[in-house]
Amino acid sequence: MFQILEARELTENIYLMVVKAPRVAKACQPGQFVIVRMDEEGERIPLTICDYDRGAGTVTIVFQGVGAETKRMAALRACDSFHDFAGPLGCASELISEDKTVLKQKKILFVAGGVGTAPVYPQVKWLHENGVAADVIVGAKTRDLLILEEEMRAVAGNLYVTTDDGSYGRSGMVTQTIQDLVEKEGKSYDVCIAIGPMIMMKFVCKMTEQLHIPTVVSLNPIMVDGTGMCGACRVTVGGEVKFACVDGPEFDGHKVDFDQAMKRQQIYKTAEGRAMLRAQEGDTHHGGCGNCGGDR
Ligand code: NAD
Ligand code: FES
Repeated sequence: MFQILEARELTENIYLMVVKAPRVAKACQPGQFVIVRMDEEGERIPLTICDYDRGAGTVTIVFQGVGAETKRMAALRACDSFHDFAGPLGCASELISEDKTVLKQKKILFVAGGVGTAPVYPQVKWLHENGVAADVIVGAKTRDLLILEEEMRAVAGNLYVTTDDGSYGRSGMVTQTIQDLVEKEGKSYDVCIAIGPMIMMKFVCKMTEQLHIPTVVSLNPIMVDGTGMCGACRVTVGGEVKFACVDGPEFDGHKVDFDQAMKRQQIYKTAEGRAMLRAQEGDTHHGGCGNCGGDR
């Protein structure tokens, strides 16, 4: 069992939990995820790691109460426990394996949308601890829905907060701020890392393509079981079939077929849709990512 040491609501329907999981804390890297299960009958929920403390043996997760299971999870309190807390899973952010001298020369822009701010935080924090100051745009629909602002300010080179309704920070969506920074404020970037809702990542990629900024996205939102078996996270990247949970979650955003992924996500929601996808694509993870062995 994995004890919850702290549980709080960050804003309406978004929850933070600090969980005692020493083995995960010891091994995890920014960009990776865990799969949690409340009890033996519980659904497996993949969640990107928001923070970790190797000394204390804790891992922090942030999640939104969207389905029945995450709403049930939201009722957990400090001293309750998760039945499973498996990880770290997925590939770590590519930034952390780059040469530090090269990395320090790079101008890096993170774009975090809504709950996607949580998985951006450990990457920016890791860079800060390694002497790299990255610019960060954090977008939310309105001021009350902003999360982790102070935490992010403490580790970002420059923090740009945007709200869609203009109630705080810059007015408009994150894409507007990307354009303003580059075209009006003289900024230039070597790489952009965008994490948030699929629709945001799609439009960030359209904008950064125009601005010629290579862009990495995290496709955590299309995962269901996180094991390479359910087939939910199948996505076409540069014309090749990939599975976000085994091949990602991070991919070259300019190569991702977002429209297909979002359409497939909608179809996958119903039993009828899943049956249709099985008939078209095969039973589980047989798509041929070439890495996990599911197609051999
Ligand atoms: P949201 O809908 O409030 O959007 C956040 C910001 O994204 C907005 O403020 C806006 O600036 C930008 N945005 C949204 N639509 C846009 C568009 N069409 N063009 C340009 N910018 C746009 O976000 P939310 O409600 O917190 O998002 C929840 C979603 O985030 C869930 O679907 C969840 O799966 C996903 N999520 C993704 C990750 C990840 O790893 N990618 C992690 C956690 C959550
Ligand atoms: Fe099920 Fe990736 S989430 S195959």
